Amino acid sequence: MRTGRVVGVDNRHEPPAAPDEGWVARLWHEQADRDPALHTHSIHVGTVASLLAREIGFSEEDVLKVQLASLFHDIGKLDIPREILYAPRRLTPEERRLVELHSIYGSRRLRQIGETPMLAFVEDVALHHHERFDGTGYPEKLAGAQISLPARIATVGDVYAALWERRSYKAAMSHDAVLASMTEGDERMSPAMFDPQVLDALKTSMPKLKQAMAE
Ligand SMILES: [Fe+2]
Ligand SMILES: [Fe+2]
Repeated sequence: MRTGRVVGVDNRHEPPAAPDEGWVARLWHEQADRDPALHTHSIHVGTVASLLAREIGFSEEDVLKVQLASLFHDIGKLDIPREILYAPRRLTPEERRLVELHSIYGSRRLRQIGETPMLAFVEDVALHHHERFDGTGYPEKLAGAQISLPARIATVGDVYAALWERRSYKAAMSHDAVLASMTEGDERMSPAMFDPQVLDALKTSMPKLKQAMAE
């Protein structure tokens, strides 16, 4: 639970109860300016996640909320040193743990903006997009329905986009190869990591997804 504001106490570190409406644009520009690759990745995640949410039956309003949250799922990476985040080598276990803190850092950034239902929605996705349906994720090792459906959707969008994208350490994969890895498993992942309902939505969304991510 978040603490309330206390009269007569220094509240400077408390989030404002009603943030100004400019936070989306501000965060959007900060992410784009400081880390264009992360920004592009986040747009891809937002595209996949919104298609999945629509396929699952979310209202258009909720589809947009999932898209907005996906755009900022990795915002905590702005607080990780770039030389570690983009190290062209295998990370040490200690460095890996540091990178994994990005979900907590993202949650913290969003809390500092303010307390609104929309910010709570976005924060949940930032904090929990690395949880795994089989309980093997982080930071809280949640499993199944302990993880919110929007976060389970963002997880599938995130992994999909990351595999599909070209990175300094890996080639791009085709849409069909990504789908096969996620639904059948490979040396890095098991389908048990993902909500089966969201994986089903991924399979049925493939034609639309290929079209949306054609470039
Ligand atoms: Fe992430
Ligand atoms: Fe990501």
